[in-house]
Amino acid sequence: MSTEGSAVDTLTIEEAAAELERLAKEIAHHDALYHGKDQPEISDADYDALKRRNDAIEARFPELIREDSPSRRVGAAPSVTFSPVVHARPMLSLDNTFSQEDVQDFVAGVYRFLGRLPDQSIAFTAEPKIDGLSMSIRYENGRLTTAATRGDGTTGENVTANIRTIAEIPGQLPKGVPAVVEIRGEVYMAKSDFLALNRQMEAEGKQTYVNPRNTAAGSLRQLDAKVTASRKLKFFAYAWGEMSEMPADTQFAMVQTFKDWGFPVNPLMKRLNSVADILAHYDEIGLKRPDLDYDIDGVVYKVDSLELQQRLGFRSRSPRWATAHKFPAEQAFTEVEKIEIQVGRTGALTPVARLKPITVGGVVVTNATLHNEDYIKGIGNSGERIRPEEHDIREGDTVIVQRAGDVIPQILDVVMEKRLAEAKPYEFPKTCPVCGSHAVREVNEKTGKMDSVRRCTGGFICRAQATEHLKHFVSRNAFDIEGLGSKQIDFFFENEDPSLQIRTAPEIFTLEKRQQPSLTKLENIDGFGKVSVGKLYAAINERRSIALHRFIYALGIRHVGETTAKLLARSYGTYGAFAAAMEEAAPLSGDAWNDLNAIEGIGEVVARAMVEFYKEPRNIEVIGRLLDEVTPAEAEQPVTSGSPVAGKTVVFTGSLEKFTRDEAKARAESLGAKVAGSVSKKTDIVVAGPGAGSKLDKARELGVQTMDEDEWLALIGG
Ligand code: IVH
Repeated sequence: MSTEGSAVDTLTIEEAAAELERLAKEIAHHDALYHGKDQPEISDADYDALKRRNDAIEARFPELIREDSPSRRVGAAPSVTFSPVVHARPMLSLDNTFSQEDVQDFVAGVYRFLGRLPDQSIAFTAEPKIDGLSMSIRYENGRLTTAATRGDGTTGENVTANIRTIAEIPGQLPKGVPAVVEIRGEVYMAKSDFLALNRQMEAEGKQTYVNPRNTAAGSLRQLDAKVTASRKLKFFAYAWGEMSEMPADTQFAMVQTFKDWGFPVNPLMKRLNSVADILAHYDEIGLKRPDLDYDIDGVVYKVDSLELQQRLGFRSRSPRWATAHKFPAEQAFTEVEKIEIQVGRTGALTPVARLKPITVGGVVVTNATLHNEDYIKGIGNSGERIRPEEHDIREGDTVIVQRAGDVIPQILDVVMEKRLAEAKPYEFPKTCPVCGSHAVREVNEKTGKMDSVRRCTGGFICRAQATEHLKHFVSRNAFDIEGLGSKQIDFFFENEDPSLQIRTAPEIFTLEKRQQPSLTKLENIDGFGKVSVGKLYAAINERRSIALHRFIYALGIRHVGETTAKLLARSYGTYGAFAAAMEEAAPLSGDAWNDLNAIEGIGEVVARAMVEFYKEPRNIEVIGRLLDEVTPAEAEQPVTSGSPVAGKTVVFTGSLEKFTRDEAKARAESLGAKVAGSVSKKTDIVVAGPGAGSKLDKARELGVQTMDEDEWLALIGG
């Protein structure tokens, strides 16, 4: 479907968008299995690799970050059995780092954000990342009142009765503790207890459990607390939620306080002052890992000073002041049974290796991405050799599969000694396997280099592209039409009966009125039936009015993901204004073009793609028919209550003295302002520090309000 697994730094924006969509779905699927049913299909390392890839793509294309991005979600929605608890403070997640360089970047990022020099040392804590279930335990006047799972980060499940059965968690805190205390930490099952439990299950002829983490989860989700009590669950405290009073001002001292209050805390936590020390502690914990009686999957680093933590704040789902440094994953040998080609929405031909099933770190692996034809030959995306020439991947080869770092599994190398005499180099198709059109490698206008991805040139005539387009149109973040899934789209697309055919999006909305008594009606077709057809029509009709950003996103314009669609909706307000502006921007100059490029988060590649899209008569024709059926709503304006700068577009220029640019930006955004990189008619405020130049001049010229840093601080309340 997509260019699954291509090196992130060579993905085109369009591939990145498709890949992010795929990852969002895949990760949501695994989240549901992991959190909802405690029955995962992939290993944690596999899961982490998916998340990491998602994060890497988002880091490169921030404009593509989706509303349903896994990076904005933490865990899964709560299940139905337990009553919901809204967390007093959201329970956040951690960003992951996988290499020493990542850790250096993380530390450097902290220094940069705070505007600190390397000699103004910042202390970090480093502690094991416990592979259990995070829990928030609330005490009022010293008494345990509520315990809740993380759930989706905002709302968890009330598991108070079960948590009370865990001996290590105090029901009552010592005298003198703050009136409200929320302790957060990890509930886990010791490895030894897990093994003992499984031995017992086996002896009783019952099914054994997969791993300690899922057993702990299952044990906590028992409606009968007696069952929980029979499973020896344990706890480590490492964080907190609401606190009516802060007992300490560093991470380290907070955790020591929890220890004094009677909570188990991890003995391997250390306070350290340099990247070298942090990394040494990581290695030390890694060496101890096999001997620990609990599963850990990495080391968590946190800025020690709570004041600095506060200044660093949060991104959408994770703190800037912490990161999880994960342990690497495993490799295994298997055979490539077959190489197949998938064709995506944008025509990309992606080769996939079908593998002889192999277990890597407890997970059965059957497919690996081969990225593109160069990769099969051992050539990287910048034309460099990644494997010796003769190590091209062939059907029948024995290969090394790795599941870390990138989207996994990945084929690392070919075992040449095992190559069969009859194995032939894989011949990459030059035509689309679906529609037969030529498949070509475009030459990048800017770099003059040949794209590593071969694309089908069939466009709308390619069944794969056309159906993938429709599937995108009805997908969850676009039109979200229930009852119109992948299978149904294929059915309607293939149907030869014109009254039952859907080849372009507007036809979805004319389906009902195209049904004629003389012809076969949908409800008489196998697999549909009266009730489901009624529901389908209702679902379709429900979308005859739709949010503007969803409408724009659904059009499937190259490079326009959900976030971009939202920016566009918010900037232009109505579909009419948007479409008119895109047509006016056609010369790639003038006001309409400049306004488009001035939107923070919209780069030139995206802007060009939109202009191109609106130059194509076929698109205009299809949208015209679509607008006969569907009315995009006017975009909602951002909430303006409370903050004096909400909804305003602000530009920072010159050097700031009280904050770094990043901190100022984060602050402004948290108050609902949009921060832009350049001054235009749409700018509301320019905050100019010493040394401000052309941007300040432009602001004056356009009559935009300008102020210095102090005036800005006064405006936003210090
Ligand atoms: S700190 C705001 N410390 O990892 C940050 N989390 O991926 C709060 N975890 O939700 C988390 N060991 O379930 C922290 N020593 C540790 C941890 C830890 C395990 C889990 C926790 C969290 C997840 C983030």
